[in-house]
Amino acid sequence: MKKLNKLTLTALLFTSISLSASGLSQKAANGQEFYLDADCQKCHNQDSKYDAKKKKSKNMKDLNKWVRSCDTFFDVGWFPEEQQDVIKYLNEIYYKY
Ligand code: HEC
Repeated sequence: MKKLNKLTLTALLFTSISLSASGLSQKAANGQEFYLDADCQKCHNQDSKYDAKKKKSKNMKDLNKWVRSCDTFFDVGWFPEEQQDVIKYLNEIYYKY
């Protein structure tokens, strides 16, 4: 039990260090993980050089729509809260609406 707690603490510590280093909010950092897990970066670069294809989204509403459609199209199955985190992530690294 003691050992487990120590491990958990270390993991938490690591997570918070990498979060502050990335400069993302907590939600966006979660979104980044979902994004990487779902392999979205296969087609859209996932770093500061994010590839928006044709930059069709002009505002938050469009961005919501697009994330939902790529989620559906590639059968990722994100929960609404997960989608929101991904939207926040893309907005923080790229769109900045
Ligand atoms: C197989 C390649 C591919 C994958 C994988 C993919 N996308 Fe896309 N995505 C595209 C293409 C192509 C477009 C532009 C479609 C168009 O212009 O009609 C697009 C458009 C978008 C846009 C709108 C970009 C803009 O502003 O114009 C967003 C946001 C987006 N995708 C998010 C995601 C997310 C989130 C995932 C992961 C679930 C994902 N995409 C996975 C190919 C992909």
